[in-house]
Amino acid sequence: MGDEGDTNRDSGGATGPLLFYNEVVIDHFVNPRNVGELAEKEIDGYAVVGDPTCGDQMKLWIAVDGGRIARIAFRSFGCPGAIATSSMLTALAEGRTIEEARRITDDDVVEALGGIPEKKRHCSLLGVRALQAAIEDWERRGGRP
Ligand code: FES
Repeated sequence: MGDEGDTNRDSGGATGPLLFYNEVVIDHFVNPRNVGELAEKEIDGYAVVGDPTCGDQMKLWIAVDGGRIARIAFRSFGCPGAIATSSMLTALAEGRTIEEARRITDDDVVEALGGIPEKKRHCSLLGVRALQAAIEDWERRGGRP
């Protein structure tokens, strides 16, 4: 695949390479879904994960009702790619059964966003890893699918 689509041909006068984000990615970055935290009494699963290569971090909370992810929220301390992919991840996970949510991959997130620059693909792992860890936390707390 290479770096196709990674740089703007029209840099608008900026110097240096610019990453190209499509409209969907920009929308999820500028207006991220499910940002925030769940109230303590709502929380059924929680995780904090980090990417040691870039130092970005995210926290993610889930509330489970009837075996489904009833509510999901996140806080990202990361790059635009991390925020946009985490936002899309929460949109994909909300309302899914635990088993369905467990099967969401970083490829699903990137596909739902209509693609992301190759250099930013790893950012989508942060949200997926956080969701899997929050589900594991839910199980540790006694949750059963
Ligand atoms: Fe670290 Fe995007 S550069 S998650």
